[in-house]
Amino acid sequence: MKEATLLQFLLGIIVCSTLFFCTNAEDPYLFYTWEVTYGTRAPLGVPQQVILINNQFPGPPIEAVTNNNIVVNVINHLDEPFLITWHGIMQRRTSWQDGVLGTNCPIPPHSNWTYKFQVKDQIGTFMYYPSTLMHRASGGFGAFNINQRSVISIPYPAFDEDVTLLVGDWYIKGHKALQKQLDSGLDLPLPDGLLINGVSNFTFTGQKGKTYKFRVTNVGISTSINFRIQGHPMTLVEVEGCHTLQEVYESIDIHAGQSIAVLVTLHGSVKDYFIVASTRFTKPILTTTGILLYQGSQTPPSLPLPVAPTYHVHWSMKHARTIRMNLTANAARPNPQGSFHYGAIKVVRTILLANEKVEINDKLRYAVNGISYVDPATPLKLADWFNIPGVFVLNGTKDAPPSGPPTLGVSVIGLTLHDFVEIVFQNTEKTIQSWHLDGYNFFVAGYGGGNWTTDVRRRKRYNLVDAVSRNTVQVYPKSWTSILVSLDNKGMWNLRSQTWSKRYLGQGVYLRVWNDEKSLYTETDIPPNALFCGKAVQS
Ligand SMILES: *[C@@H]1O[C@H](CO)[C@@H](O)[C@H](O)[C@H]1NC(C)=O
Ligand SMILES: *[C@@H]1O[C@H](CO)[C@@H](O)[C@H](O)[C@H]1NC(C)=O
Ligand SMILES: *[C@@H]1O[C@H](CO)[C@@H](O)[C@H](O)[C@H]1NC(C)=O
Ligand SMILES: *[C@@H]1O[C@H](CO)[C@@H](O)[C@H](O)[C@H]1NC(C)=O
Ligand SMILES: *[C@@H]1O[C@H](CO)[C@@H](O)[C@H](O)[C@H]1NC(C)=O
Repeated sequence: MKEATLLQFLLGIIVCSTLFFCTNAEDPYLFYTWEVTYGTRAPLGVPQQVILINNQFPGPPIEAVTNNNIVVNVINHLDEPFLITWHGIMQRRTSWQDGVLGTNCPIPPHSNWTYKFQVKDQIGTFMYYPSTLMHRASGGFGAFNINQRSVISIPYPAFDEDVTLLVGDWYIKGHKALQKQLDSGLDLPLPDGLLINGVSNFTFTGQKGKTYKFRVTNVGISTSINFRIQGHPMTLVEVEGCHTLQEVYESIDIHAGQSIAVLVTLHGSVKDYFIVASTRFTKPILTTTGILLYQGSQTPPSLPLPVAPTYHVHWSMKHARTIRMNLTANAARPNPQGSFHYGAIKVVRTILLANEKVEINDKLRYAVNGISYVDPATPLKLADWFNIPGVFVLNGTKDAPPSGPPTLGVSVIGLTLHDFVEIVFQNTEKTIQSWHLDGYNFFVAGYGGGNWTTDVRRRKRYNLVDAVSRNTVQVYPKSWTSILVSLDNKGMWNLRSQTWSKRYLGQGVYLRVWNDEKSLYTETDIPPNALFCGKAVQS
């Protein structure tokens, strides 16, 4: 071994043993330094303060390959505590890196913290965004794409280029003004518009005959969108890391926090076409257009815009049921996705979560089974690790909606590692909801109108064969959505509304997935650089 190589090797061991839980030294590392600052942009034509990462809005994309180790030094130049969460990244055995206030102390203003995690056994289209306060309403979000290792074949036709579209609703008011409004007890109005990749005039230039993979994520903080490209049907290939049946769609609903990947072949005549995103279930409907420009085109796109589906919840629910897993396709590993027969596994526990708008102390709040979540000063994970009492009450949240008035609280549901559970989201509101679980993908077993009852399951309304496995699911107005999840990832995991105002006002809970055996095989140690705050400071 040459001297330099030997030195690198030894350094590798030292870095590895002091900084990382070290089983994955063979997998490549991607290093990022992110300067988080305020800046001015005018995405809707009006200059406003936004949150930039390395002077970019949206933030820089992470382009990883399955099993890469990701190291991100986040330098917080804002005047408020800050954290970024990695939406859809499973953080296997290490909720320490999840970047939410239940697992991490926030990075104080004018200081930094380095995340280190592995994108173990994952492929797919994901994102990151700030989890603190209402920060993400001002930016700080970006794409997080994980590509197949070269030894794994992709289960769909080859494409020429990968294009990332971050589509989402946007307010001209900044995060502080929005937060103030929520703090005063008022809900947010409809957003001011929609953006594609942070602008109102997004343009993509492609070549006739080529096929592009568009990765489309709804980065918005409240509204569901419908996405379509004039004259160009889309073949769905992936949803949040799950390879789907390759159905062809004229338009696709993407709810807050969800991601899809579609193949689009430029088969049209050489001209420009509209790329359209419009809100679903809002009055009025907000629409934004981008342009798909064929190289060499001299012809601007022509109206009318491709039509959106009508308001109907029924259409959207039917459409959602057509998004199914391709059982013979691989994902991050060569084995077929259908080899895990989730429909044959016995459900050991059913948790029915009713999610509702409530009033507590004369203020607007949102609650889950009667508890409106409030972040304690001490992260739940730190309290758990150091046995600090008085931070949370395990099982404060019941498995079914209780009667009685709603309260503020720190809601944690205690669950046993390796259990297989059913979670039903009951939406009693007139608006659509979107729910996300950190640390997991789950099977979307069913959607239905009205109130869920145990009969629904018995009536075989569930898809127990090829349901899509994803991390974020919509719950239609006055309807329910049922998911099945295999609790194989020990840790403290946030289950939260993707409607950020509702989440800010308490619509969330943590799942403590636990067994009493302390072992690095089930959970990593606390990272050596962990920040301490609240009651954990004295420990
Ligand atoms: C903060 O950033 C510096 C480099 O600028 C780095 O050496 C240090 O490890 C970082 N601190 C943490 C806690 O990540
Ligand atoms: C979009 O608008 C901005 C601001 O008006 C302008 O600087 C930019 O060139 C435009 N981009 C395209 C692709 O037209
Ligand atoms: C499912 O995936 C396989 C590759 O494993 C592919 O050949 C097949 O076309 C896919 N089926 C559908 C219906 O998308
Ligand atoms: C929480 O509830 C689960 C399921 O009912 C149970 O297994 C667990 O023991 C409970 N934990 C506590 C501390 O009550
Ligand atoms: C569903 O349940 C809620 C609250 O539990 C109740 O107010 C409502 O009337 C029920 N709806 C139907 C259709 O039964």
